[in-house]
Formats: sequence, structure tokens, C-alpha cells
Amino acid sequence: MVYQTLDALDVQLKDLPVLPPPNRVVLTTPTHFDVEYVINPHMSENVGAVRKEVAWQQWKAVRAAYTALDRKPVVVNGQPGLPDMVFCANQTLPFYNPGADTKGVVLSRMHSEHREGEVPYYDRFFEDMGYAVKTLREDLDADFEGMGDALWHPTRRLLWGGYGYRTSPEAYEALSDLLDVPVVLLRLTDPDYYHLDTCLCPLDAEHALVAPDAFDDTGRALIESFFDTLIEVPDHEARHQLACNGHCPDGTHVLIQEGCEQTNERLREHNFVPVELDTSEFLKAGGSVFCMKQMIW
Ligand code: ARG
Repeated sequence: MVYQTLDALDVQLKDLPVLPPPNRVVLTTPTHFDVEYVINPHMSENVGAVRKEVAWQQWKAVRAAYTALDRKPVVVNGQPGLPDMVFCANQTLPFYNPGADTKGVVLSRMHSEHREGEVPYYDRFFEDMGYAVKTLREDLDADFEGMGDALWHPTRRLLWGGYGYRTSPEAYEALSDLLDVPVVLLRLTDPDYYHLDTCLCPLDAEHALVAPDAFDDTGRALIESFFDTLIEVPDHEARHQLACNGHCPDGTHVLIQEGCEQTNERLREHNFVPVELDTSEFLKAGGSVFCMKQMIW
């Protein structure tokens, strides 16, 4: 079932099956990371501007932060000619169905041809790890960028589906059928927030960081109806520092771009603990912590 309006909603979180949190982290090395083309507004002034050595140090700090939270990452090697491969949240959507005890990933269909070549590496990686690798219906003409746009609601089997720039709304009908899960669609309305993970960050079942300007009224109402507490991120921290591209792996710590002062203050007011990481080199490509990792069951 796919929901697009408040009126049509006939599900509540408490009625949905419980989903245990994924605890394994996948990271991809920035060996060939760079800004070589422009497929989102953040990249436009930054072609050739990545400081490679700095990017490596920042990536190692991200790896260390997960390790310190007891989630030692499994590492995939970045490949030549695929400068965005380091953003390993985008090529797949991991899933787990506790009822049927099935876990696996659905492969993405990248909107940009520059990124299509990344997907087969993750196909092989998950295949080798023994995960079920699924694809969207062959006859479906739709783009889908994995956990760039599709986010699990923490601890419940409900999927949030962003669309408008990278993922087609039709992809979610197919996903909902494939994974037997309800999806709430959110239309993205501002190209700076081209992926859902740039403007909505579910922290736990009740709390989320949100950049309100990224959505239309319907989208904001849908988000409000599921989360008890929305922590609004000021526009400059969301737009330029991608504060909503943070990640809360354990319900307490929030790995977030360094210097998002107002967001951090609001997080602390709600008893979250910001863990600041400098991802400046990755921001040049339009990504931060959330899209530099993939969580799997
Ligand atoms: N340059 C990459 C792109 O535009 C960045 C992806 C960042 N990922 C994300 N989920 N926001 O595709």
C-alpha cells in the first residue's frame, strides 16, 4: 500500500510489525572519490575541488565513530571511474522481514548514468555476503536511488519514500509489493534537497530532524502525523551543512556534520548526543554521514 495524503492514511505505527534496528554498517573507501560531474546543486562549484588526503582523513574519522559506537564497519573498495561510489547508501535498500526471517537488499536504478556502474559492485558484495538480492519489476520504467530516498521508520515496518528528483513515485508501488510494506510518499520540492536523506532524518520511532522547506504542505502533515516530536533544522544548517544527513545508529548518538550549532542545541534539548564529524569534502558532492554508510541487518 502506498499513501500520498493524510485522508487516505489508514495505518498507525502501533499496528505495524516491529522492525529491529539494523546493527551492521557498510562503508566504501573514498579511493576514487572526487567531484567530476554535476548532478545536484551542491556539486556545481566544486568540480575538481576535493582535497583527496583530507577526504581520506574525514572518512577514517567516520569509520572510527562507528567503531566507537560498537558498530565496526564492513568495508567495500571504491572503484576507478565511479567518484560517487563512496556514498554507499544509494545503490541498495536493505530490508528485513522478521515474520518471514528474510533479509536482503533491493538494487537501485540510478537516475544518473554517471552512477549506474556502481550498482553491480554492491550486487556482488551482498550476494557474496549471502543476502537475497532483489530487483524491481523488469517492466517498470522507474528510477530508484535506494536509501537516498527510501528510509525505514525506526523500529516499525514502514517505509518513507521521497520522490521528485532521483526516484520515481512508481518505484514505491513496486517496492511496497516486493517487500510487503506500506510506503508513505513525500514529494521533494527544492533541488538542494534532492534526496529524502538530505531533509528528513528519523532518529528513533518518535523523533526526527526535518528541514520543513524541502516538502509541500501534504508532506509536512504526513511527517507530523507519524513522529511525535519533530526537531526543525534551520535552513542554512540543513541546506549548506546537510544537518539532516546525520545518522543516529543507537537511538542516542547523532553523527552529524561539524558546526551545526543550532541543530546540536535542539538535539541536546531532546536528550540526543551530537557526535560532530567534519565531512566538508563530501559536502562538495552533496553528501554527508548518512549517505556515506549503509546499515544492514
Ligand atoms: N554526488 C552524489 C549524487 O548526487 C551524492 C549522493 C549523496 N547521497 C545522498 N544520499 N544524499 O548522487
